[in-house]
Amino acid sequence: MRILLYRGDGVIEAWARDFAAELPHAETVVWQEGERAAPCDYAVLWAPTPALLDQLWNVKAIFLMGAGVDALLKFGDALPPVPIVRLGDAGMAEQMADYVAHAVLRYFRRFDDYERQAREGLWRPLALQDKKTFTVGVLGLGKLGAPVVRTLRQLGFPVRGWSRTPKDLPGVACYAGMDQLDDFLAGTRVLVCMLPLTPETGNLLDRARLSRLPEGAYLINVARGALVAEPDLLALIRAGHIAGATLDVFRNEPLPAPHPFWGEPRITITPHISALTLREEAVRQIAAKIKLLDQGETVADVVDLQRGY
Ligand code: NAP
Ligand code: GLV
Repeated sequence: MRILLYRGDGVIEAWARDFAAELPHAETVVWQEGERAAPCDYAVLWAPTPALLDQLWNVKAIFLMGAGVDALLKFGDALPPVPIVRLGDAGMAEQMADYVAHAVLRYFRRFDDYERQAREGLWRPLALQDKKTFTVGVLGLGKLGAPVVRTLRQLGFPVRGWSRTPKDLPGVACYAGMDQLDDFLAGTRVLVCMLPLTPETGNLLDRARLSRLPEGAYLINVARGALVAEPDLLALIRAGHIAGATLDVFRNEPLPAPHPFWGEPRITITPHISALTLREEAVRQIAAKIKLLDQGETVADVVDLQRGY
């Protein structure tokens, strides 16, 4: 069995070493731009080029080194007609839960306000907010969204969730579909975005939808930047309707130096780190799925091209 490995950022040697340890009978081949790939059974990649995809029409499956598939599906008809398998959690859910819990608690206990006060040398206790009405709404209840919802429940926050198909999660007010989105937003104090970027979800959070949030709401986006209409968010923050945003993802990454988000004190920026791929866990998961496919079994986390995730 031959497995082709590629990462757009070039950091691949450790992946090759780990695959060799997990699948000792397989030959791993690190693809370089400009090469003709030897015939391979499987490809494991992140951020491929069109030249690479062109050479993968005969593999049995393509495995992604991450959870989001938008950067691959954008190739449309140039995609090889083979199953595409994304990472399913593989250690990301715990990271997401930590990140979101931190951001929600920071707003709930007003650490953002205390940070601003401290910069001005102000010693001023602020009123405690009421947890019973500090409702957190999570957009996307999938592999990463569902564990985040559980963590927020454990912290004692009222939690609501929104997904494409109806869900029944203990202790969570579940909403589904576009018809229920406005009601979901109207009762959400902290909006957490954990949706995939698809033709349906791009620019979902525009001025109209963000305005449905109650005055003083917060946004946490850990999914993809293009889900949010960035100028609309900035305008609503400057108008005071949105009290603050914690953003891990942006339409253009790295966030360009002149972007107005950098200068807005109510926006907290992190460089797309809310859930990093954990190489060893990812290799273990992918190697286990390769073994299953090779035995003619089915595997989880195959991307549905119609849905776009
Ligand atoms: P997932 O398991 O595929 O779950 C996606 C969720 O979104 C599902 O609940 C799905 O609804 C819902 N959804 C999709 N389209 C929808 C629509 N049109 N309307 C309403 N709900 C919709 O994905 P995941 O593993 O949780 O990951 C979510 C996203 O996180 C990824 O796509 C990626 O972009 C992002 N991510 C970011 C980082 C980072 O470091 N910032 C790391 C990893 C992942 P159903 O349940 O009804 O299907
Ligand atoms: C990271 O953003 C991922 O989709 O895995």
